Amino acid sequence: MTRPIIALDFSSFEETLDFLDLFDESLYVKIGMESYLLNGPHVIRTIQERGHQIFLDLKLHDIPNTVERTMRGLAELGVDMVNVHAQGGSKMMQAAVEAYKSVHPSGTVLAVTQLTSLSEEQFIQETKSQLSLEENIIHYAQLAQQSGIDGVVCSPLESQAVHTVCGEEFLTVTPGIRLSDAQADDQSRVVTPNRARQLESDYIVVGRPITLADDPVQAYQQIKANWEGQDE
Ligand code: C5P
Repeated sequence: MTRPIIALDFSSFEETLDFLDLFDESLYVKIGMESYLLNGPHVIRTIQERGHQIFLDLKLHDIPNTVERTMRGLAELGVDMVNVHAQGGSKMMQAAVEAYKSVHPSGTVLAVTQLTSLSEEQFIQETKSQLSLEENIIHYAQLAQQSGIDGVVCSPLESQAVHTVCGEEFLTVTPGIRLSDAQADDQSRVVTPNRARQLESDYIVVGRPITLADDPVQAYQQIKANWEGQDE
């Protein structure tokens, strides 16, 4: 069973470290572009020194050569999970995977298919796509898989469809997780950790239900137990 990935979306690195100080176990954490771009590789090294695994969520999208060189650098930092936009195309995704795995063979490279902030209406109007949003997501998941990518970031509600088309081995990493009694914040479609497991998510990503909790350690343990199916 994978550990829930905690999204460390804090406004300063000091707050991030204060949060990590609360825990006396190894965690899997997600660092976003704000934190990395404002504070640099120092963020990664400091968190690694504390024994945590890192998903660096930079959603790279550029020409293959630039992404390839960037990926090699991130792999040398020893980041465990990274991602690119599937819309960068198959050549970019292949370059990303080859560069990263040449340095860090056991690491994981994911693709973002479509941002969940994009509505169906906006998608149709702005891309002039002949496909529905869901068909487009599945298309990009397949393209990512053919390009050597390990999995996609998607809603838990899309996990089964992705696994049906791309197989069980292709990973789904899913945000939009809330315990049933918790608020949804700005997530429009949320499911519980337990439901995400039933829907075949391979990893869950959880931010505010843990980072803003009165007792973050207790909230993390509760979400972990629910994900593992222990408290049903
Ligand atoms: O606080 P919350 O649990 O909603 O955080 C979820 C995390 O997952 C945030 O870092 C958010 O940016 C990220 N995310 C998301 N939906 C996506 C991709 C990433 O919520 N499609």
